[in-house]
Formats: sequence, structure tokens, C-alpha cells
Amino acid sequence: MVERELSLVNEGLRGIVECAGPEINAVGDYIFNGSGKRIRPALFLTAAYRVDVSSDHLIDAAIALELIHTASLLHDDVIDQAAIRRGKEAVHVKWGNKISVLSGDYLLSQAFKILVNYNKPELLEVVVDIVEKMSEGEIEQAFASIDSNNLESRYFQWIGKKSAAFFSGCCKAGSLMRDGSKEEQAAWMEYGYNLGMAFQLIDDLLDYTGKKSITGKPLYGDLNNRVITLPLIRTINVSSMNKPVNEHFITDTATSSQIGEVAQAVIDGEGPHYTYQKAEYYVECAAALIDDLNPESEEQKAILKQIPRDVLMRRN
Ligand code: FPP
Ligand code: MG
Repeated sequence: MVERELSLVNEGLRGIVECAGPEINAVGDYIFNGSGKRIRPALFLTAAYRVDVSSDHLIDAAIALELIHTASLLHDDVIDQAAIRRGKEAVHVKWGNKISVLSGDYLLSQAFKILVNYNKPELLEVVVDIVEKMSEGEIEQAFASIDSNNLESRYFQWIGKKSAAFFSGCCKAGSLMRDGSKEEQAAWMEYGYNLGMAFQLIDDLLDYTGKKSITGKPLYGDLNNRVITLPLIRTINVSSMNKPVNEHFITDTATSSQIGEVAQAVIDGEGPHYTYQKAEYYVECAAALIDDLNPESEEQKAILKQIPRDVLMRRN
């Protein structure tokens, strides 16, 4: 339904970095090669979709959302010290932390430049809220340690901010651009929030159960980089092996065989299934909201039903 628009988004992303000079263009060319899922602009465009109105005026806003997402990944890979992104070396591995962080800053500036040109304060407000929540979520995650209290509820809070708020904001922004009523906008926000929660839960699950050739990320990357996620939290909370898991996890000097032991405990435990069940719950919540989204057509309704299923079944 928004395929044409998404290819214009891809062209626009390349256009922005091409105009920026050789250094930024080199990094931009490397990251905007079409390998991302573009799920955030796709959600925005779907929420804003109207049969009777051309979507051309929405392309720039969709580009801005993808620029913000890419900026956050350039920062996130430095924070997580993740070496691989989308099947190739992360920007900080290829060019260093400085270039990764600064390129992220540049992309962020371009996103806000686009949004300022729209001259639509409500849209700007939604996007500022996304960035605020994302940063808060990342900070909360960075402060958490394996022996923090209430780790599971804190996890749900930080993924709500770092991921679900973005999906929710994309949907709200789309509904806003379509002149949806306040009720419609609220329903879209909730739909996006539930999708985003499920999306992040599956992301964290795939770190333990995924295939590197499909996810484009190494298995146990989170574990190796001491990123605490639900499969591990659940293992610690219920497993009789929680002591070795705990001990190995908190020592930065853990050997690869000790990390392997922790990974095995997670895989053998109920953490992965528990995480999947939580994702299923959020997907069901999203699916229950379809009629409140006021779909334009049967085609749009069918797509809105399919998106939650795809989020649950995704392998990359
Ligand atoms: C990926 O999560 C990262 C995020 C969802 C958000 C990152 C946000 C920031 C770094 C805040 C700064 C924001 C901006 C706009 C510069 P993940 O690490 O769970 O997923 P991954 O496995 O794909 O790395
Ligand atoms: Mg990461």
C-alpha cells in the first residue's frame, strides 16, 4: 500500500547525505543502502494513508522518522559496543566512535530541519516526545544492573520508552497528518505502542534464538555486551542456575566459556518462551484495536491485521 512512498523515502535518505559533502556521504552511503526494514516510516505512512489524497506531502516526514531511527542506531551501537549491524561492520567499528556519534548528530539535525519546514507544531511535538522517551529509556537501561530490584518491571518500562514510544509516535503522527479525531489518534498511539513492545521483545528474543545470517547480528550479542533483556532476566528470576548466571554476568572478565554457560542456561530455561508469550500478549492487544483505527478500506484493514502477525513471526 505504501511501497511507492517507501522507495521515495529511500531515495530521499540518499539525497540528504549526498548533498552533505564527502565525509558524511561516505558514512551515509554505507548505511542507507536499503537494507533496513523501514518499519517506522511504513507505519507512519500507513496511519496517514488516504485513498483520495496523494501521499507526496508525507514523504519528507517519513524520511525524518527514518533519519531519527538511524541516528539512534549510530549512537546505540556505540553504547552497546555492538560490532555488527545489518550484516556488516557497525559504523563505529569501521570509522570509530567519534564518527558514529557525530554522524548520528548530523542525521538528527537533518530530521529536525525537515520537521521545522513543515511548520506543524503538533507534528514536531510528537517527534520531540519520541526522542525524549528514547533517550530516557536508554538511560534507564544503561543504569540497570543484573542485581537491580524489580528488573523485570524496569525492563518493560525502558523498552516502552526506547522502542514502543517510537512506534506509537509514528502512528500518532500519521493519524495527525490524516486529520484523525482525538479518539482515532489515541487508538493509533496504542496500536503503535503494543506493536513496538512486541517488536522489541522479539528483537531481544532473537538475540538468543535467531540466525545470524537472517538477523544480521551475532548470536548472544546482548549477553556478550552485558545488555540485560527479558530472556536473561526471566532466567535469573526463576532458574536454579541463577547464581552462576549472576556471577558470570557481573564480572567483565568472564571467559567466553562462562558466557557460553550463561547463554546455555537462558536457552534451556523458560526465558525465551516467556519472552515470546509476552510478545504474543502485546500483538493481541494491537489486533484488538483495529476497528478503532478507522481503516480507510478493506485493504488497509487487512494490512493493519497483518502487521501484528508479521511482528510476531519476524526472523530479522
Ligand atoms: C536499539 O535497541 C536502540 C533503540 C531502540 C534506541 C536507541 C536510542 C538512543 C541511543 C537515544 C538517542 C537517540 C537519538 C535520536 C540520537 P537495541 O540495542 O535493543 O537493539 P539492537 O539489537 O538492534 O541494537
Ligand atoms: Mg543495541
